Amino acid sequence: METTTLDIAKIRQDFPILKRQLHGRPLVYLDNAATSQTPQQVIDVIVDYYSRYNANIHRGVHTLSQEATEAYENARQTLQKHFNARKAHEIILTSGTTHSINLVASGFTSLLKKGDELLVSAMEHHSNIVPWQMLCERTGAILKVIPMNEEGELIMDTYHSLLNENTRLVFCNHVSNALGTINPIKEIIDAAHQAGAAVLIDGAQAAPHMIADVQALDVDFYTVSAHKVCGPTGMGMLYGKEEWLNKMPPYQGGGEMIAEVTFEKTTYADLPHKFEAGTPDICGGIAFGAAIDYMNAIGFEAIAAYENELLAYATEQLLSIEGMKIYGTAANKTSVISFNVEGIHPYDIGTLLDKMGIAVRTGHHCAQPIMDYYQIPGTVRASFCFYNTKEEVDALVAGVQRAMAMLQ
Ligand code: ALA
Repeated sequence: METTTLDIAKIRQDFPILKRQLHGRPLVYLDNAATSQTPQQVIDVIVDYYSRYNANIHRGVHTLSQEATEAYENARQTLQKHFNARKAHEIILTSGTTHSINLVASGFTSLLKKGDELLVSAMEHHSNIVPWQMLCERTGAILKVIPMNEEGELIMDTYHSLLNENTRLVFCNHVSNALGTINPIKEIIDAAHQAGAAVLIDGAQAAPHMIADVQALDVDFYTVSAHKVCGPTGMGMLYGKEEWLNKMPPYQGGGEMIAEVTFEKTTYADLPHKFEAGTPDICGGIAFGAAIDYMNAIGFEAIAAYENELLAYATEQLLSIEGMKIYGTAANKTSVISFNVEGIHPYDIGTLLDKMGIAVRTGHHCAQPIMDYYQIPGTVRASFCFYNTKEEVDALVAGVQRAMAMLQ
């Protein structure tokens, strides 16, 4: 039995998809690090938008447009409050973390010169590697790697020694999607600032488990995807310090991001609109705010405590299986377990688990350098959310054992 103060049975009632049967068995959804499920409260907000006030924002004098604009800007304020940004216009609404990082990488093109150095952690998702490689190709800047150890923790001594007067930018995830490691981002940010470098933290995998206070962290950029926090796909945010957002040129040109357009010259709108060209996912933005409200109503402290309980239980149970190896054993981690069973390809386990109604992710998790480090093709990844139960952990463990019996 769980010892949490949360009423998990009641919380599960909020998620219609959890009632689904898969291949004749109850769905056991353990792929939350890829996409979390959506509660009825957020689904209702989406239905309400399209049923009652679907209209374009910031453009119309008509009532529907004003209602949509107000709801969209309220969502921005919800995010501002949640992440403790100084100003609402420091929250740029994007299509997700990938978009947010590309926006910053594009913005830095004119701010870098040949020989400038950028530091990336060894445990990044491809979305926090490739845009910077493309930036280096455009500018002649050099990308250097902060290494990690066998436990899946960054080697901080090496990080400190890599920082120098040429370092312009450091990027690191708050939490690793493939290993679950919680990185010491305050130390990373403070050291980078001392060296005169700016820091972008990819918060996609942290946001479902903890609240990042961007002012307390003094972070320059922080990115989040809505679909990891019970919100819709195709929506996310970039927090950027106002001074950086003002320095960076717009990412895309188009409607909404201008102050005035003539064929001779165009001037740009103020923040946040300068970075929000075109009609955004209005409903997605409103639903993002509703998802954050939903999670806050449950409470992040209780969520983290319960997920830690699930993590400890699942780790212990999985390790009782002979031939089990868990990748990512950092002292400080979230409820993500990446594993392999000796002699079995992760894809085979994932496929058989699916037939038993258990959804996990298999493969390199868009973090190939981590797999190269461990010299493996990929892992099976079970990632737990606050609506998961110990019975579901038991189902996973029994499922892995059954798959092993079929494959070995
Ligand atoms: N980045 C997501 C994951 O880790 C898709 O699965």
